[in-house]
Amino acid sequence: MLLISNGRVLDPASGADAPRDILLDGDRITAVAPQGQLAARSKGAEIFDAAHLVVAPGFIDLHCHLREPGGESSETIETGTRAAARGGFTAVCPMPNTRPVNDNASVTRSILERASAVSSVRVWPIGAASAGSKGEALAEIAAMKQAGIVAVSDDGRPIASAKLLRQVMDYCRALDLPVIDHCEDSSLFAGAVMREGKQSVRLGLRGMPAATESLAVARDVQIGELTNCRLHIAHLSARASLELVRAARAKGLPVTCEVTPHHFTLTDEDVQYDSCYKMNPPLASREDRDALIAGLIDGTVDAIATDHAPHEPALKDVEFDRAPFGITGFETALALGLDLVYSGRLSLMRLVELFTSGPARVLGMKRRIAENEPGDLTIFSTDHNWTFRAEESASKSRNSPFDGRSFRGAPMATIVAGRIAYRR
Ligand code: DOR
Ligand code: ZN
Repeated sequence: MLLISNGRVLDPASGADAPRDILLDGDRITAVAPQGQLAARSKGAEIFDAAHLVVAPGFIDLHCHLREPGGESSETIETGTRAAARGGFTAVCPMPNTRPVNDNASVTRSILERASAVSSVRVWPIGAASAGSKGEALAEIAAMKQAGIVAVSDDGRPIASAKLLRQVMDYCRALDLPVIDHCEDSSLFAGAVMREGKQSVRLGLRGMPAATESLAVARDVQIGELTNCRLHIAHLSARASLELVRAARAKGLPVTCEVTPHHFTLTDEDVQYDSCYKMNPPLASREDRDALIAGLIDGTVDAIATDHAPHEPALKDVEFDRAPFGITGFETALALGLDLVYSGRLSLMRLVELFTSGPARVLGMKRRIAENEPGDLTIFSTDHNWTFRAEESASKSRNSPFDGRSFRGAPMATIVAGRIAYRR
């Protein structure tokens, strides 16, 4: 038994924000009550004193790369989920762009077996939409669903054609799986390494316009309407994309989207000739970044997702043009979100929603703090001052543009299935 006492419990699903004690027994929450009232029932329990801390439902990350199998020199399920736990995440959804690609049930099963042996947090794999994510034939979606995938995506690339997307969506609609698309028009993307604009000209780097993303979002929304399948837009980065999502939702279509901490924090003006500023989609214009923040506030955005994309130094420490896209993200996500709260733009409740019930809804699940719910909780401080040092990260990789940045607020404990997976 574990008693979380004296915390400020924030539960976006019910709107509750109150001092409460929470008792966990086995892998579940067994009681939630005003402070002190669980004393009799919790005799012998381990006690976590959460005084001055926020106790939230367990954070879910819809989008990350754990690199196993095949990319173990950059990350493993063990190191990646340890970094996730340090970031407050209790469940993470690894994308299928591993080697081999997670496009069949035996890869899915091997990921889940490995996770049950070494993972700090829950691992909910995403399966490929097409075989090898090559954009030709369908992947073994039904068999992967049986094995435990929670969604499909060809992330790393877009689902290649409207025709293939239609097939994937017809299939996933029947299986009740969301389709997550990395939206990108490949003809505009080709050869570009950052957002097109003054800064790309200044740096002499090939740029891509925002339409690289929004053209693909428009395609996806229309195929979504044709098939009535759930569509989730990955790492949305442009105002035009957000407007398409807003319009689709106004029509009642099941379209959701996520935004990453780096896209709501940085802009293309921050890009330096340093591959820690190279990710896909690239950092956007200031106008787009501000639109993303507006979307986080007004509910158009459903989830904050990290797109944690580790790459070992041997890959990343090369010329900007030659480096792979991607930055790490688990350990800085909450603190970057809290920056929006301190600057008065986002409410703390809404921020917690974007890490909990929001992503849960995308997956057709619920996340709340109540009796009989899974014992997953994220406990964080809103005033702990600290500095992120990439070299001290639990990740195997160091590729973060936030190395050396000071933050206010941090995860203090991550509780998964009733057990403390991380304690600061
Ligand atoms: O920045 C990115 N990194 N974007 C992607 O789409 C893929 C990811 C990766 O796998 O490194
Ligand atoms: Zn992607």
